[in-house]
Parts: sequence; structure tokens; C-alpha cells
Amino acid sequence: MTTVDPPTADGQRLKEFVASELERARARSLALTTDVLDDHELTMQHSALMSPLVWDLAHVGNFEELWLLRAAAGIEPMRPEIDSLYDAFEHPRAERPSLPLLSPGESAAYLGLVRRKVLDSLDTLPLDPARPLLAAGFVYGMVVQHEHQHDETMLATHQLRRGPRAVADADPPAPASPGPVPAEVLVAAGEFPMGTSTDPWAYDNERPVHPVGLPAFWIDTTPVAVGAYRAFVEGGAYDDPRWWSPGGWEWRCRSGRRTPAFWLRDGQSWARRRFGVVEPLPDDEPVQHVCWYEAEAYARWAGRRLPTEAEWEKAASWDPEAGAKRRFPWGDSPPTPERANLGQRRHRPAPVGSFPAGASAVGALQMLGDVWEWTSTDFAGHPGFCTFPYAEYSEVFFGTAYKVLRGGSWATDPLVCRNTFRNWDYPVRRQIFAGFRTARDA
Ligand code: AVJ
Ligand code: FE
Repeated sequence: MTTVDPPTADGQRLKEFVASELERARARSLALTTDVLDDHELTMQHSALMSPLVWDLAHVGNFEELWLLRAAAGIEPMRPEIDSLYDAFEHPRAERPSLPLLSPGESAAYLGLVRRKVLDSLDTLPLDPARPLLAAGFVYGMVVQHEHQHDETMLATHQLRRGPRAVADADPPAPASPGPVPAEVLVAAGEFPMGTSTDPWAYDNERPVHPVGLPAFWIDTTPVAVGAYRAFVEGGAYDDPRWWSPGGWEWRCRSGRRTPAFWLRDGQSWARRRFGVVEPLPDDEPVQHVCWYEAEAYARWAGRRLPTEAEWEKAASWDPEAGAKRRFPWGDSPPTPERANLGQRRHRPAPVGSFPAGASAVGALQMLGDVWEWTSTDFAGHPGFCTFPYAEYSEVFFGTAYKVLRGGSWATDPLVCRNTFRNWDYPVRRQIFAGFRTARDA
């Protein structure tokens, strides 16, 4: 895996890092689209929840043009007439297939042209510390992270898609079978610094760092496993309103769902559909494709609750002995395959209890990678939040409609994963690679 730390002290090395990260993200995008699917599959809508893949692809190129050519380098718009097609706020996903989108061939050509101009301008553009967009290469980091986030979204589209698997299936074997781990770990009472003010490529919603005091709490050592969740399903919890919040019960009745997404009954046992392949449901993997309402109901059934977002970040990042915050659960050095299941190396979560080398200071495992983890917290700005560089990334989503997810999934690139990174979605969403862990007051 590549380093995830932009070498900000050396302008030339920073530019080389930016160029290679742009290239790595692009290879990933193409491997999810034009490399593997025909024009029909790229332009059709596989689910009303998702954009046609060709929309994501050209949107990534348009975003790159807007920020790296127009905003950063002052270059004239190449195709101003297409901007509105790829503006996520002008057209909801369900509407996108009926727009006069660029064809897959036109999209690939547009992306290539934008990228050539970006690399040319990167050569001559000073990463001027006095320009907030350019300092430490921020806007380049923003564009690379944007492309990787859309790549994860495109993987969710692949999972929803019907037909034989189109993503590469070279899944390396699971890490060595983990030994038993304690069910939960204790996080002592006290203040910790939440968020960041120093991470050069952190988003506005991760800033600024600010003290948060928490009472002591217990949090699960690992995400909740399929086997544990299966007991909830088989015990009839989907038919018992006691376990559900009012919103959750309404979702349960309206949707008719009685299992996580993609589960199938296979005689006496369970199977799941994963990228077009039906396979036995593995009891030892973190459960994924559950919505916030299901996570919350499971926690209540188990006599527990979801962690708050602050509890999650403290369990992942706070080292009480050193009195210091870690950028990743294990420390400040970048993710490796021994520490976390990130970066689409595998197309599934690793068994619970994996990656002892990735433990946080308090002993929590798999905080980064495997599955996004639902928290009980609504998405809001940290105290002192300042929009940068545009309100439509974070600020317009603040409020009670969205719940925060933390930690990244197996599909999340390491460049988009750190203890302070915040994701959010509606509490009904299940197509994302999300699971959860539970907590309780100490
Ligand atoms: C942070 C994953 C919720 O996909 O809606 C992509 C990321 N923002 N383009 C999303 C994003 C603009 C965003 N999430
Ligand atoms: Fe986007």
C-alpha cells in the first residue's frame, strides 16, 4: 500500500506524490467502469439509489476540472455546458439516466484531457503556502479523495448490479485466524482532543481540534459479527417493536425487510449475494449492509447502545498513557495490510478479531477498515467549524437527517481513512458497506 502522508515539507516531492496518487485513483476508477463493463452497463441505472456509472465517471472529471484547472490554475472552462449535468445538487440520482450525459467514450476522453492539463499545470503551479487552496497541496488532496469516494460508491453500484461479477475477484485469503479477544474494552473518563487542526488534507468537517470530555464507557472490541446478528434475526427481532425506535419500526414496516441486504435463505442455512456470486453467509465476518435503524435495534436488543461519534473517535485515537492523540488506531504511521483491511485489496470484511497489529491504545480492533460503523450522532459541524472550500461538501448536510459513520470499509482507500474522517448517510441506507459496534455506560 502506498504512503498516505503527503510529504508537505518538500515542494517537489509533494508534486510527485500528488501525481502518483492522481494516477492511482484513476486506474481504480477505470477498473470499475470502462475497463470492465460495456456501454449499456455503464449508462443504465442498476438501482434507483445510484447514478449510472458513467455519471460518476464524468462527474469525477468535471470536479477535477472545476478545482484543479479553473479554481487552482485559473484555466478557462473546457466544456461549461456540461457543468450542470454533473452537479449533484441539480439532479438527484434517480434523474441522472435521463440526462444527455457524455457517452462512456466521450467521458473517458474528457477525463484524459482534463488530466493531461492538470499534470501540465502541476509542473508550473507553485504550491503557494499563502493560498489556502494550494498550501500543502490541499486542493489536489481534495480531488484525489473525491475520486476515491466515488470509487467506493461505484463499488456499491457493482454490488447492487445484477449479472455475473465484473470486479476483479483476486481476493487474497483472510488474515490468519485471530485468537479470542475480550468482548469489550473500557475507555476511562476524561477529556480528549476531537478532530484535527493539523492534518493537511483533512476536510473542513474534521476541523478544528477541540476538547471533548466523556464519562467512562465500554465499547465492543470488534464490529458486531454476522453470527451475533443472525441470533437477532432468528430470534424474531424484526417482528418485535420493543427493539425498534419509532422511526426504526416505521422503516421496518414500510420496507418489509427482515434481514440485512443481500442475505438469502438457503434451505436451513443462510447465504448471501456478493458481487454476483451466491456464497454461504460467514458467521465470523462483521455484518454489513445494515441501516442505522437496524444497528440501533440490535444494540437495544443486546442491552446496549450505539457509541456516540465522540466515543468512537476517543476509542480509536486517544492514548491515555502517552496523553496523546493518534492519527490511526495503532499510531501515526500509515495503514499496512497487517493493520487494516482497506483499499479494496479484498472485496469483503475480514473476520472479527483480525489485525491485532492494528489495535488502538485501549485495545479496540478493526476501528479502521472492514466496515463503516454507524454512530448514534447526527452530522453537525465541530465547534468552530468553518466552511472550506465549499459548503456543498459538508455544511449543507448538517442537521438531523444524517447519521455519522466512522472508520472506513474494506472498499475505502487509505488516503480517505483516518481517525478523524467523518462519513454520513440517511438512517435508512443499506447499500453502503456499513456495520456497527455497540457500547454501554461504565
Ligand atoms: C462523504 C461519502 C457522504 O458520496 O455523498 C462525493 C462524498 N461528496 N462527492 C457522498 C462526496 C461529493 C459524500 N460522502
Ligand atoms: Fe462528488
